[in-house]
Amino acid sequence: MQRLQHDGVLVVGAGLAGLSAALAAAPRRVLLLTGAPLNHGCSSAWAQGGMAVALAPDDNPDLHAADTVAAGAGLVDPAMARLLAAEGPAAVHALAALGAPFDRAADGTFAQSLEAAHSRARVARVKGDQAGRAIMEAVTAAVLAAPHIEVRAGARLRGLPQDASGRVRGVIVEQDGALTEITAAAVILATGGVGGLYAVTTTPAELRGEGLALAALAGARIADPEFVQFHPTAIDLGRDPAPLATEALRGEGAVLVNADGQRFMARYHPAAELAPRDVVARAIHAEREAGRGASLDAREAAGAHFPDEFPTVFAACLSAGIDPRVQPIPIVPACHYHMGGIDADADGHTSLSGLFAAGECASVGVHGANRLASNSLLEAAVFGVRAGAAAARETDPETPALPAVIPPHLPAEALTRLRQAMSRDAGVIRDAAGLNRLLAAIDALEAAHGRAASLVAARLVAGCALARTESRGAHFRADATAVSKPRRTFVTWADIAAPALRYAAE
Ligand code: SIN
Repeated sequence: MQRLQHDGVLVVGAGLAGLSAALAAAPRRVLLLTGAPLNHGCSSAWAQGGMAVALAPDDNPDLHAADTVAAGAGLVDPAMARLLAAEGPAAVHALAALGAPFDRAADGTFAQSLEAAHSRARVARVKGDQAGRAIMEAVTAAVLAAPHIEVRAGARLRGLPQDASGRVRGVIVEQDGALTEITAAAVILATGGVGGLYAVTTTPAELRGEGLALAALAGARIADPEFVQFHPTAIDLGRDPAPLATEALRGEGAVLVNADGQRFMARYHPAAELAPRDVVARAIHAEREAGRGASLDAREAAGAHFPDEFPTVFAACLSAGIDPRVQPIPIVPACHYHMGGIDADADGHTSLSGLFAAGECASVGVHGANRLASNSLLEAAVFGVRAGAAAARETDPETPALPAVIPPHLPAEALTRLRQAMSRDAGVIRDAAGLNRLLAAIDALEAAHGRAASLVAARLVAGCALARTESRGAHFRADATAVSKPRRTFVTWADIAAPALRYAAE
């Protein structure tokens, strides 16, 4: 294995959190490692809605924080939600200064959309549904122009070497089949979520929780891994990944209908189409399971304006022969966001010295059991910057790195089996029987193929979903529908591997 020393900070992942961290670490030297080319393989570039930020005259960060806390179903850390909301306006202005072309009203202020569970229209968007791509293009240009950042694309994270004290000393990456160990003063993981562990996902399928798994294997504390958000309206075209039909469509008045054209959401929640995302996802799941089907009907709400207002969704529909100006869009709930992750504080510190985490792979406590729509780009920007600045203050201890665990790759056919099992048993509706079946499937895959990172990440989700015998936010247990006292999950890999968590009584 080749061994290199980097004088500065390593950032793993090139979504908005990773890029924000890299920029904020200046003037410290940053080596940015990404498995895919810049602007590929990251969820940030696919975000449609935009960034939730309290900018309107009738809005303020306290209202935004209150909505964030309410959506999180008892598990949001209120101080973190206030921090997120309070730093939101500066974050969006900073992105606009980098060139992110946010939509503007006639008076030059930010145009803002309404999305579910927001008490105000507060989602700053770009050209309708193109926020993620446009923001990422602006930030990527800044990264490429920054003299302190070197980008190494095609380098996939494979291990986290530690010294004798347990401090993370760097990374092992695989590039063109060769492994390289790179030591540095600090490592920031910004490796994204776990969508690729599910058969139906709106995220790039290569995001399979590697950072989460490697941090767990290194001994890092993991928070709330059972909380996975399912977007109600992925477009049901049988594609992997499934294209998204942004929630902003429902904000604009699009309605959910069954195969007979009947609206059904009022039967599930008084806020109907604008009910919290988990409620809408379960309603759609129930309609589909009952054989009634579910579609998103935007004919009246968007109609002829559809191509201008939602060009990304329009293109996805047209590519499958669906014209959403005149036809309802077939939809399916899909894995969309991981609320849980590597436990991190407001500056990205994890429980392991030398290791920082930001963005979706981290859990700073702002999402609780159910993330408020369009809070994820905001979280990536706010906490990415904070993690970058904090990591830049680390000094290299120059201690030797011990040999690291390098998990085996999971063969494609085994991954397909894992994804199907995760969607079936750790999806929108869960119960002990299904979760135990899933854990047994993970055991069998591990026995056959070794402890692959995706199996570790899947076990974190499944084991903690089994241990949480209540229904809260996006975690719905058909066999435990009541809500217990609010309690966040904090676990280490040693806890998860313990038999009691793996096979609780059915
Ligand atoms: C959407 O546009 O519906 C997704 C926004 C989000 O997940 O925050």
